[in-house]
Amino acid sequence: MTKKKILLTRVFPEVATNLLEQAEFVVTKWDKERPMTQEELIANAQGHDALFCTLTDKIDAQFFGACSTIEMVSQFAVGYDNIAVAEATRLGIPVGFTPDAVSEPTADIAFGLMIVTARKMFYLHKTIEKGEWGYFKPNSDLGLTLKNKTLGIFGLGRIGIETARLCKGAYNMDIIYHNRTPNKQAEEELGATYVDFKTLVSQSDVVSVHCGLTPKTKELFNKEVFNQMKSTAIFINTARGLIHNEIDLIDALQKGTIWGAGLDVTNPEPMQTNNPLLQMKNVCVLPHVGSGTIDARDEMSRMAAVNIIEYYKNKRVPHIVNPEVLNAI
Ligand code: DGY
Repeated sequence: MTKKKILLTRVFPEVATNLLEQAEFVVTKWDKERPMTQEELIANAQGHDALFCTLTDKIDAQFFGACSTIEMVSQFAVGYDNIAVAEATRLGIPVGFTPDAVSEPTADIAFGLMIVTARKMFYLHKTIEKGEWGYFKPNSDLGLTLKNKTLGIFGLGRIGIETARLCKGAYNMDIIYHNRTPNKQAEEELGATYVDFKTLVSQSDVVSVHCGLTPKTKELFNKEVFNQMKSTAIFINTARGLIHNEIDLIDALQKGTIWGAGLDVTNPEPMQTNNPLLQMKNVCVLPHVGSGTIDARDEMSRMAAVNIIEYYKNKRVPHIVNPEVLNAI
């Protein structure tokens, strides 16, 4: 049997290459730190059977049209909004992904952003660098207390529940949430309460976003929603930057409509250095590092490789976005 050819579109943890090569796949690796341009991606994918890719790769209908040898896509991420899944399904192409591996590290970043934002830590660190420490100030640079406050989770899935666990354990926060379907596990374990979207945004002291990016959630957090939030509220987004409207967020923070924001994802990415959010005392921004621990990235690499190996060996994909493709085989 001819060996299947896999294109790795970024510099991924070595775990994937080792597993794929041990399983007798031919691996081609993009060796630059930057993502490929769309032209490079299409040119490099020619003649390959499967793609090991991630959120910086645009796997759209044009890509599938131009790369007709691709028969499997394995995404190194839990989010897959960069992939035209409906088109992949139409073409009978399974799309694998890597849930679970990212849940705890991403929840850590959401929880961490709540604390650093509530206490203005990024801004205060900058004051020291600028030689502005001065002296102890009894009534300046004050932050917010998180203990016993209300956490509103939008999208209580794998990452949302981990975030809720951290907030409940550390600060005894009351958990309210809004989801497509109620999460009974979170209700039993954490006393979480399902509420409608309006109640979620108006009652929460911290609103933390953990949903996927879809046409329904795109720029859902906009002026109208920020206007419904408490003026003391903190907005946290570790999911996808396109879920908030960044111009509206800047405006809401400048006008004091909401109190602060902690972002691991921005709209657009990367954030430009002159973005006003970077100068705000009550805002902390990170460069999309939610899943960025050594263990998590190794596990994501393993899962994405196993999705490919299992597909070719056993016609199954352990973590699949469009299972209907396999059911049709
Ligand atoms: C994901 O998994 O979707 C993150 O954004 C990157 O790990």
